[in-house]
Amino acid sequence: MSFKAVVLGAAGGIGQPLSLLLKANPLVKELALYDIVNTPGVAADLSHISTPAKVVGYLPPDDGLKKALAGADIVVIPAGVPRKPGVTYDDLFKINAGIVRDLATGIATAAPKAAVLVISNPVNSTVPIVVEVFKKHGVFDPKKIFGVTTLDVVRAQTFIAEVLGDLSLSSSINVPVVGGHSGVTIVPLFSQSSHPLPSGYATSDLEALTKRVQFGGDEVVKAKDGAGSATLSMAYAGAEFAEKVLRALKGEKGIVAPTFVHLTSDKSGGETVKKEIGKEIDYFSAPVELGPQGVAKILSLGKLTDSEKALIDAAVPELVINIEKGVSFIAPSK
Ligand code: NAD
Ligand code: LMR
Repeated sequence: MSFKAVVLGAAGGIGQPLSLLLKANPLVKELALYDIVNTPGVAADLSHISTPAKVVGYLPPDDGLKKALAGADIVVIPAGVPRKPGVTYDDLFKINAGIVRDLATGIATAAPKAAVLVISNPVNSTVPIVVEVFKKHGVFDPKKIFGVTTLDVVRAQTFIAEVLGDLSLSSSINVPVVGGHSGVTIVPLFSQSSHPLPSGYATSDLEALTKRVQFGGDEVVKAKDGAGSATLSMAYAGAEFAEKVLRALKGEKGIVAPTFVHLTSDKSGGETVKKEIGKEIDYFSAPVELGPQGVAKILSLGKLTDSEKALIDAAVPELVINIEKGVSFIAPSK
């Protein structure tokens, strides 16, 4: 079984390396690249790679978005402006909210059953935008819409491996990162790491490590000095999450990854997570078991330390504001 994958924003800093990684993925049989510029060139280039996926580039004229999306199984969205020094996640909302709304409208009409993986920032608001657009079109399925928070996990894995002095461990480290995707809304649960931090690891060091994961994006934005934000690590993380979704769609069992999802009140597990958070909130990044329909089950946040509970308490008010901003962009009366 193999799939059609679509990248919206495929000519960008994330879009190009992400498309490269998807082209290299044997589960992808067809790869459609859509952007407002340059996709014919990116597609021609990738199409020479000797892997099975057929690659086609699309631009807006002649219903390019609709054609790109036709028959999609998975749609990944890295379209939109990135940060540079002095720009906040919330600043990106002004431009990216409209871009994501329009792309979501395209998906809701041309590929409403596809799994949608939202990378465009601010994820805490863009995911609710996609959900509200889908609701408006009567095609919302909470199992199918994912905010991609994998880069936070990838960073946590890497930084733990650095502390342990063995980078070769990093990809095998299983560490949940929950909450949202911006600053204090990002909550790494180091106490649940498959590879614990050294015993006697100082509280101040744990706080610094937590901050490094929460503000890892700033580290890259500062180093790139005006040339954008994380692209290569994001492409790696996005391709890793897409691969997990595809393997689960194919029927593989037991695949779990943290992702920012709608906490539905059905039997998906969303209610349990809401209770654990202890506040009324409609979205959260929680460990999710993936399945043939997308979300199979939203899993418990697990046993939290007092400091992790405090981090979640600090994350929730900002998350609620971010979520409401996305919802009211599409459904102002709510
Ligand atoms: P970029 O500017 O390099 O690329 C964005 C691409 O989107 C461009 O090619 C642009 O032409 C395209 N685009 C703009 N409007 C479009 C539209 N209406 N339809 C289709 N394509 C459109 O930016 P980037 O560095 O690739 O970052 C993209 C987004 O991803 C940003 O919002 C950034 O903040 C976000 N991001 C998210 C994470 C995460 O962890 N979720 C990590 C890094 C970056
Ligand atoms: C990241 O975490 O690197 C991204 O969200 C990009 C950014 O602006 O920080």
